Amino acid sequence: ITLLKSVTRPEVFEFEGISMVRFFTDNWEKVQNFQARPDDILVATYPKAGTTWASYILDLLYFGNVAPERQTAMPIFLRVPFLESFFPGFPAGVELADNLSTTPRLIKTHLPVQLVPKSFWEQNCKVVYIARNAKDNAVSYFHFERMNVGQPEPGDWNNFLQNFMEGKKVFGPWYDHVCGYWEKKQTYSNLHYMFFEDMVEDTGREVERLCSFLGLSTPIEERERITESTHFEKMKENKMTNYSTVPVMDFKISPFMRKGKVGDWKNHFTVAQNEQFDEHYKQKMKNTSLQFRTEI
Ligand code: A3P
Repeated sequence: ITLLKSVTRPEVFEFEGISMVRFFTDNWEKVQNFQARPDDILVATYPKAGTTWASYILDLLYFGNVAPERQTAMPIFLRVPFLESFFPGFPAGVELADNLSTTPRLIKTHLPVQLVPKSFWEQNCKVVYIARNAKDNAVSYFHFERMNVGQPEPGDWNNFLQNFMEGKKVFGPWYDHVCGYWEKKQTYSNLHYMFFEDMVEDTGREVERLCSFLGLSTPIEERERITESTHFEKMKENKMTNYSTVPVMDFKISPFMRKGKVGDWKNHFTVAQNEQFDEHYKQKMKNTSLQFRTEI
Protein backbone atom coordinates (compact mmCIF):
# COMPACT_ATOMS: atom_id res chain seq x y z
CA ILE A 1 0.00 0.00 0.00
CA THR A 2 1.39 3.38 -0.97
CA LEU A 3 -0.29 6.65 -0.40
CA LEU A 4 -0.36 8.80 -3.49
CA LYS A 5 2.52 11.24 -3.36
CA SER A 6 0.30 13.73 -5.13
CA VAL A 7 -1.74 14.55 -2.01
CA THR A 8 -1.86 18.34 -1.69
CA ARG A 9 -2.86 20.39 1.31
CA PRO A 10 -6.64 20.37 1.73
CA GLU A 11 -8.97 23.31 2.35
CA VAL A 12 -10.77 23.55 5.68
CA PHE A 13 -14.55 23.86 5.61
CA GLU A 14 -17.44 23.78 8.05
CA PHE A 15 -19.02 20.31 8.27
CA GLU A 16 -21.58 19.00 10.79
CA GLY A 17 -20.72 21.95 13.01
CA ILE A 18 -16.93 21.54 13.04
CA SER A 19 -13.95 22.36 10.84
CA MET A 20 -13.03 19.51 8.55
CA VAL A 21 -11.07 18.57 5.44
CA ARG A 22 -12.29 16.27 2.70
CA PHE A 23 -10.07 13.36 3.75
CA PHE A 24 -12.35 12.85 6.75
CA THR A 25 -15.72 13.68 5.20
CA ASP A 26 -15.64 12.13 1.72
CA ASN A 27 -16.70 8.73 3.05
CA TRP A 28 -19.20 10.19 5.52
CA GLU A 29 -22.20 7.97 4.87
CA LYS A 30 -20.18 4.79 5.24
CA VAL A 31 -18.54 6.12 8.38
CA GLN A 32 -21.86 7.04 9.97
CA ASN A 33 -23.37 3.68 9.01
CA PHE A 34 -20.39 1.71 10.26
CA GLN A 35 -21.54 -1.45 12.00
CA ALA A 36 -19.65 -1.80 15.25
CA ARG A 37 -19.53 -5.14 17.03
CA PRO A 38 -19.96 -5.43 20.78
CA ASP A 39 -16.32 -6.40 21.30
CA ASP A 40 -14.88 -3.57 19.18
CA ILE A 41 -12.67 -1.14 21.08
CA LEU A 42 -12.74 2.46 19.99
CA VAL A 43 -9.63 4.59 20.62
CA ALA A 44 -10.84 8.17 20.54
CA THR A 45 -8.72 11.30 20.79
CA TYR A 46 -8.33 14.87 19.67
CA PRO A 47 -5.46 14.72 17.14
CA LYS A 48 -2.00 14.57 18.77
CA ALA A 49 -3.14 13.53 22.24
CA GLY A 50 -1.31 10.19 22.24
CA THR A 51 -3.45 8.09 19.90
CA THR A 52 -0.58 6.07 18.50
CA TRP A 53 0.88 5.37 21.92
CA ALA A 54 -2.42 4.11 23.33
CA SER A 55 -3.15 2.18 20.14
CA TYR A 56 0.16 0.36 20.38
CA ILE A 57 -0.38 -0.46 24.06
CA LEU A 58 -3.79 -1.92 23.21
CA ASP A 59 -2.38 -3.81 20.27
CA LEU A 60 0.29 -5.41 22.43
CA LEU A 61 -2.15 -6.23 25.20
CA TYR A 62 -4.36 -8.16 22.82
CA PHE A 63 -2.02 -9.39 20.11
CA GLY A 64 1.53 -9.05 21.42
CA ASN A 65 1.88 -12.78 22.00
CA VAL A 66 -0.49 -14.30 19.51
CA ALA A 67 0.52 -12.75 16.20
CA PRO A 68 4.27 -12.12 15.86
CA GLU A 69 4.04 -11.20 12.16
CA ARG A 70 1.63 -8.42 13.10
CA GLN A 71 4.41 -6.85 15.20
CA THR A 72 7.09 -7.07 12.52
CA ALA A 73 5.24 -6.44 9.27
CA MET A 74 2.02 -4.54 9.91
CA PRO A 75 2.22 -0.79 10.61
CA ILE A 76 0.10 0.49 13.48
CA PHE A 77 -2.21 2.42 11.14
CA LEU A 78 -3.27 -0.88 9.54
CA ARG A 79 -3.62 -2.69 12.86
CA VAL A 80 -5.77 0.09 14.28
CA PRO A 81 -7.65 1.60 11.33
CA PHE A 82 -8.50 5.29 11.38
CA LEU A 83 -12.25 5.01 10.84
CA GLU A 84 -13.09 8.28 9.06
CA SER A 85 -9.91 8.50 6.99
CA PHE A 86 -10.32 8.51 3.25
CA PHE A 87 -7.07 9.39 1.49
CA PRO A 88 -6.55 8.91 -2.24
CA GLY A 89 -4.54 5.79 -3.00
CA PHE A 90 -5.06 4.32 0.46
CA PRO A 91 -7.84 2.01 1.66
CA ALA A 92 -10.64 3.77 3.50
CA GLY A 93 -10.64 3.40 7.28
CA VAL A 94 -14.07 1.75 7.19
CA GLU A 95 -12.83 -0.80 4.68
CA LEU A 96 -9.73 -1.58 6.76
CA ALA A 97 -11.86 -2.00 9.86
CA ASP A 98 -14.36 -4.22 8.05
CA ASN A 99 -11.51 -6.39 6.83
CA LEU A 100 -9.88 -6.91 10.21
CA SER A 101 -9.93 -10.59 10.99
CA THR A 102 -8.72 -10.34 14.60
CA THR A 103 -10.91 -9.92 17.65
CA PRO A 104 -11.30 -7.50 19.24
CA ARG A 105 -11.08 -4.96 16.48
CA LEU A 106 -9.19 -1.87 17.60
CA ILE A 107 -10.50 1.20 15.81
CA LYS A 108 -9.24 4.78 15.95
CA THR A 109 -11.28 7.95 15.61
CA HIS A 110 -10.75 11.67 16.06
CA LEU A 111 -14.44 12.47 15.71
CA PRO A 112 -15.94 14.53 18.52
CA VAL A 113 -18.32 12.50 20.67
CA GLN A 114 -21.50 13.74 18.96
CA LEU A 115 -20.27 12.50 15.56
CA VAL A 116 -19.17 9.00 16.58
CA PRO A 117 -21.17 6.46 14.55
CA LYS A 118 -24.13 5.46 16.68
CA SER A 119 -23.56 1.71 16.44
CA PHE A 120 -20.61 2.03 18.86
CA TRP A 121 -23.00 3.27 21.55
CA GLU A 122 -25.76 0.85 20.59
CA GLN A 123 -23.36 -2.08 20.87
CA ASN A 124 -22.05 -0.73 24.16
CA CYS A 125 -18.46 -0.89 22.83
CA LYS A 126 -15.56 -0.09 25.07
CA VAL A 127 -14.18 3.36 24.35
CA VAL A 128 -10.71 4.47 25.39
CA TYR A 129 -10.35 8.25 25.26
CA ILE A 130 -6.97 9.93 25.67
CA ALA A 131 -6.82 13.63 26.44
CA ARG A 132 -3.77 15.89 26.51
CA ASN A 133 -3.43 19.36 27.98
CA ALA A 134 -4.39 22.05 25.50
CA LYS A 135 -1.01 23.78 25.35
CA ASP A 136 1.08 20.72 24.52
CA ASN A 137 -1.69 19.41 22.31
CA ALA A 138 -1.63 22.64 20.30
CA VAL A 139 2.17 22.59 19.95
CA SER A 140 2.15 18.98 18.77
CA TYR A 141 -0.66 19.68 16.31
CA PHE A 142 1.23 22.68 14.92
CA HIS A 143 4.33 20.60 14.15
CA PHE A 144 2.17 17.84 12.73
CA GLU A 145 0.51 20.22 10.30
CA ARG A 146 3.89 21.60 9.26
CA MET A 147 5.23 18.21 8.29
CA ASN A 148 2.09 16.61 6.84
CA VAL A 149 0.70 17.72 3.46
CA GLY A 150 -2.48 15.81 4.25
CA GLN A 151 -3.21 18.59 6.74
CA PRO A 152 -4.17 22.19 6.01
CA GLU A 153 -1.53 24.89 5.97
CA PRO A 154 -0.76 25.75 9.64
CA GLY A 155 0.56 29.28 9.10
CA ASP A 156 3.06 30.51 11.66
CA TRP A 157 2.83 29.55 15.33
CA ASN A 158 0.91 32.64 16.37
CA ASN A 159 -1.53 32.17 13.55
CA PHE A 160 -1.96 28.51 14.40
CA LEU A 161 -2.54 29.23 18.07
CA GLN A 162 -5.24 31.82 17.35
CA ASN A 163 -6.99 29.31 15.09
CA PHE A 164 -6.68 26.59 17.73
CA MET A 165 -8.26 28.87 20.34
CA GLU A 166 -11.05 29.78 17.96
CA GLY A 167 -11.76 26.10 17.42
CA LYS A 168 -10.95 26.24 13.73
CA LYS A 169 -8.62 23.25 13.62
CA VAL A 170 -9.64 20.01 11.94
CA PHE A 171 -11.94 17.95 14.20
CA GLY A 172 -13.17 21.12 15.81
CA PRO A 173 -12.44 22.85 19.10
CA TRP A 174 -10.14 21.00 21.50
CA TYR A 175 -12.30 22.36 24.36
CA ASP A 176 -15.53 20.77 23.12
CA HIS A 177 -13.75 17.54 22.23
CA VAL A 178 -12.25 16.83 25.64
CA CYS A 179 -15.37 18.07 27.49
CA GLY A 180 -17.73 16.16 25.24
CA TYR A 181 -16.19 12.78 26.04
CA TRP A 182 -15.84 13.77 29.70
CA GLU A 183 -19.59 14.39 29.88
CA LYS A 184 -20.36 11.21 27.98
CA LYS A 185 -18.43 9.26 30.59
CA GLN A 186 -20.91 10.37 33.25
CA THR A 187 -23.67 8.33 31.59
CA TYR A 188 -21.78 5.76 29.51
CA SER A 189 -19.82 3.50 31.82
CA ASN A 190 -17.85 1.72 29.11
CA LEU A 191 -15.67 4.78 28.54
CA HIS A 192 -12.16 4.94 30.03
CA TYR A 193 -10.80 8.49 30.12
CA MET A 194 -7.01 8.67 30.15
CA PHE A 195 -4.56 11.56 30.26
CA PHE A 196 -1.35 11.83 28.25
CA GLU A 197 0.31 13.45 31.27
CA ASP A 198 -0.52 10.44 33.46
CA MET A 199 0.90 8.13 30.83
CA VAL A 200 4.18 10.04 30.76
CA GLU A 201 4.31 10.19 34.54
CA ASP A 202 3.76 6.48 35.09
CA THR A 203 3.07 4.36 32.04
CA GLY A 204 2.98 1.14 34.06
CA ARG A 205 0.23 2.45 36.31
CA GLU A 206 -1.83 3.57 33.32
CA VAL A 207 -1.40 0.20 31.59
CA GLU A 208 -2.61 -1.47 34.77
CA ARG A 209 -5.67 0.81 34.96
CA LEU A 210 -6.36 0.16 31.30
CA CYS A 211 -6.20 -3.60 31.87
CA SER A 212 -8.61 -3.34 34.71
CA PHE A 213 -11.06 -1.34 32.57
CA LEU A 214 -10.73 -3.91 29.77
CA GLY A 215 -11.11 -6.82 32.14
CA LEU A 216 -7.71 -8.22 31.19
CA SER A 217 -5.65 -10.18 33.66
CA THR A 218 -2.35 -9.56 31.88
CA PRO A 219 0.45 -10.69 34.20
CA ILE A 220 2.71 -8.02 35.65
CA GLU A 221 5.83 -9.21 33.77
CA GLU A 222 4.01 -8.85 30.49
CA ARG A 223 2.65 -5.46 31.42
CA GLU A 224 6.19 -4.39 32.21
CA ARG A 225 7.38 -5.63 28.83
CA ILE A 226 4.61 -3.67 27.16
CA THR A 227 5.47 -0.54 29.12
CA GLU A 228 9.05 -0.90 27.94
CA SER A 229 8.29 -1.56 24.27
CA THR A 230 5.94 1.40 24.12
CA HIS A 231 8.48 3.85 25.49
CA PHE A 232 8.89 6.94 23.30
CA GLU A 233 12.42 6.04 22.15
CA LYS A 234 11.40 2.48 21.30
CA MET A 235 8.39 3.62 19.33
CA LYS A 236 10.48 6.24 17.55
CA GLU A 237 12.92 3.55 16.36
CA ASN A 238 10.21 1.08 15.42
CA LYS A 239 9.22 1.39 11.74
CA MET A 240 5.87 -0.20 12.52
CA THR A 241 4.95 2.52 15.00
CA ASN A 242 6.83 5.65 13.88
CA TYR A 243 4.84 6.42 10.71
CA SER A 244 8.04 6.47 8.64
CA THR A 245 6.26 4.46 5.96
CA VAL A 246 3.74 7.22 5.19
CA PRO A 247 4.84 9.44 2.28
CA VAL A 248 2.66 12.48 3.09
CA MET A 249 4.84 13.17 6.12
CA ASP A 250 8.18 14.92 5.89
CA PHE A 251 10.27 13.98 8.91
CA LYS A 252 12.96 16.47 7.86
CA ILE A 253 10.49 19.20 8.84
CA SER A 254 9.39 17.43 12.04
CA PRO A 255 9.25 13.72 12.90
CA PHE A 256 5.99 12.03 13.89
CA MET A 257 7.63 10.92 17.13
CA ARG A 258 8.72 14.45 17.88
CA LYS A 259 9.41 14.90 21.63
CA GLY A 260 6.82 12.96 23.61
CA LYS A 261 7.05 15.32 26.59
CA VAL A 262 4.82 17.23 28.95
CA GLY A 263 5.60 20.96 29.03
CA ASP A 264 7.16 21.53 25.61
CA TRP A 265 4.62 24.36 25.24
CA LYS A 266 7.03 26.45 27.33
CA ASN A 267 9.40 26.46 24.37
CA HIS A 268 6.70 27.84 22.09
CA PHE A 269 4.34 30.17 23.95
CA THR A 270 5.45 33.74 24.47
CA VAL A 271 4.51 35.33 27.79
CA ALA A 272 1.79 37.33 26.02
CA GLN A 273 0.41 34.28 24.22
CA ASN A 274 0.36 32.37 27.47
CA GLU A 275 -1.58 35.06 29.30
CA GLN A 276 -4.07 35.39 26.49
CA PHE A 277 -4.44 31.62 26.29
CA ASP A 278 -4.99 31.19 30.04
CA GLU A 279 -7.65 33.88 30.09
CA HIS A 280 -9.49 32.36 27.15
CA TYR A 281 -9.07 28.84 28.58
CA LYS A 282 -10.71 29.85 31.87
CA GLN A 283 -13.76 31.04 29.98
CA LYS A 284 -13.95 28.00 27.75
CA MET A 285 -13.55 25.51 30.59
CA LYS A 286 -15.54 27.25 33.29
CA ASN A 287 -18.42 24.75 33.23
CA THR A 288 -16.48 21.52 33.48
CA SER A 289 -14.92 19.53 36.31
CA LEU A 290 -12.26 18.32 33.89
CA GLN A 291 -8.73 19.27 35.01
CA PHE A 292 -5.44 19.07 33.13
CA ARG A 293 -1.82 19.28 34.13
CA THR A 294 0.47 21.34 31.92
CA GLU A 295 3.56 20.11 33.73
CA ILE A 296 4.41 17.07 35.80
P1 A3P B 1 4.82 15.48 20.39
O1 A3P B 1 4.56 16.12 19.07
O2 A3P B 1 4.58 16.43 21.52
O3 A3P B 1 6.13 14.82 20.48
P2 A3P B 1 -0.92 11.10 18.15
O4 A3P B 1 -0.44 9.71 18.16
O5 A3P B 1 -2.25 11.30 18.77
O6 A3P B 1 -0.80 11.70 16.78
O7 A3P B 1 0.04 11.93 19.13
C1 A3P B 1 1.37 12.17 18.79
C2 A3P B 1 2.07 12.76 19.98
O8 A3P B 1 2.28 11.70 20.95
C3 A3P B 1 3.46 13.28 19.64
O9 A3P B 1 3.70 14.32 20.59
C4 A3P B 1 4.30 12.05 19.89
O10 A3P B 1 5.67 12.29 20.04
C5 A3P B 1 3.67 11.56 21.17
N1 A3P B 1 3.97 10.15 21.46
C6 A3P B 1 3.80 9.09 20.66
N2 A3P B 1 4.23 7.97 21.26
C7 A3P B 1 4.70 8.34 22.47
C8 A3P B 1 5.29 7.63 23.56
N3 A3P B 1 5.50 6.32 23.52
N4 A3P B 1 5.64 8.34 24.65
C9 A3P B 1 5.44 9.67 24.72
N5 A3P B 1 4.89 10.39 23.72
C10 A3P B 1 4.52 9.73 22.60
